[in-house]
Amino acid sequence: MWGGRFATGPGVIMEEINASIDFDKKLWRQDIRGSLAHAAMLAETGILTKEDVATITAGLKKVEGEIESGAFTFSRALEDVHMNIESNLKDKIGLAAGRLHTARSRNDQVATDMRLWVRDTLDEIDGQMADLQLALAEKADTYAGAVMPGFTHLQSAQPVTFGHHLLAYVEMLGRDRSRIRDARARLNECPLGAAALAGTSFPIDRHMTAKALGFDRPTANSLDSVSDRDFVLETLSAASICAMHLSRFAEEIVLWSTPQFGFVRLSDAFSTGSSIMPQKRNPDAAELVRGKAGRVFGALQGLLTMMKGLPLTYSKDMQEDKEGTFDALQTLSLCLAATAGMVRDMQPDLKVMKKAAGLGYATATDLADWLVRVLKMPFRDAHHVTGRLVGIASEKKVGLEKLSLAEMQGVEPAITEAVFAVLGVDQSVKSRVSYGGTAPANVRKQARRWLKQLAKG
Ligand code: ARG
Repeated sequence: MWGGRFATGPGVIMEEINASIDFDKKLWRQDIRGSLAHAAMLAETGILTKEDVATITAGLKKVEGEIESGAFTFSRALEDVHMNIESNLKDKIGLAAGRLHTARSRNDQVATDMRLWVRDTLDEIDGQMADLQLALAEKADTYAGAVMPGFTHLQSAQPVTFGHHLLAYVEMLGRDRSRIRDARARLNECPLGAAALAGTSFPIDRHMTAKALGFDRPTANSLDSVSDRDFVLETLSAASICAMHLSRFAEEIVLWSTPQFGFVRLSDAFSTGSSIMPQKRNPDAAELVRGKAGRVFGALQGLLTMMKGLPLTYSKDMQEDKEGTFDALQTLSLCLAATAGMVRDMQPDLKVMKKAAGLGYATATDLADWLVRVLKMPFRDAHHVTGRLVGIASEKKVGLEKLSLAEMQGVEPAITEAVFAVLGVDQSVKSRVSYGGTAPANVRKQARRWLKQLAKG
């Protein structure tokens, strides 16, 4: 590959540590796309003859077909995807293949390939995020009024609706998607033509290649062009936040599907059995979504750590950006698909959820609010009175609604029969009409808003 300066090839271990073909062959489509654009520009600017470029273009298309069909053999001795493709091109078209690398280096080439790959993948992942939002919003619309417990500290807090809970994740995914779009917009500059690091003396047209590859513009500084991996870091950071969201939801699914909670039943398609305990329905898909978040975070940490000490510009360390990134984005994609599948199949048990919603004195706040609204009590006093009533009910091991009016009046003489109307969970959720609150009418409106927005794409 660089025979001129070397008398012998690399040692066996050198080849082993140096070769990236086993993983960077994933970039073959982007590599060929980049080469086609580069070649066309070389012809247009008169740097290469039209004949040479026609030969190169036809050859690259042949290589593309061969890789596509699986007939292509990648070789470790040729280090990486760029050299593999160029060497195969040389076998096919001879001398002209050697001219393709004019005014280009593997440094700007790999930076371009990686940007193209990340961009393509971000677009796919955005589509999957939208699909998960759709699955959640459809369920939320169906269950806008289904009462379930709302928790803080995983202790009963106030009743909410299942639809409201699902829409919380639709909001999170909305932010995840906007982070993805941000990252995409910022990465969309083309490093091709920065060459090794300093630019080139050939009269290339970087605007032309940038445009041909769908970039908004060429990158402005050649040193930055070949040494920047911010776009990968931003992507992994956005991916990590999304994986964290999916993991929190997965954790809830694991809890909800236990017999002790019994809020939802997962489909057979997303559950596994036990080889010894015949009764088991394990939520493995949810557990794996929760577990796999770690790999995505790991890729982000790995890349930050790898980059932090690198002087400008390119160092071979940067070849290590790929495996973690490929793995993290593939993992996120799988987790999104599994979560959407679980959501679509999930059967909530409305009776169980509603019963659970009333446990733990979840309507105590409603009682306190009633004291404020009807008796004009300051909230702090109402909080105290309600606390005493909860104490009495708890002593008797009954719900607040099971206390007698006399017992209530023993704590606060002004309480009337009307208070019992606010102690039910249905009444409780219905009353939470503030914007963004859990009242079923609100939730239905929000679900419809999302469905409409998602239909627009
Ligand atoms: N396989 C290399 C990478 O992924 C390509 C760039 C090699 N450049 C170099 N100067 N050795 O980073």
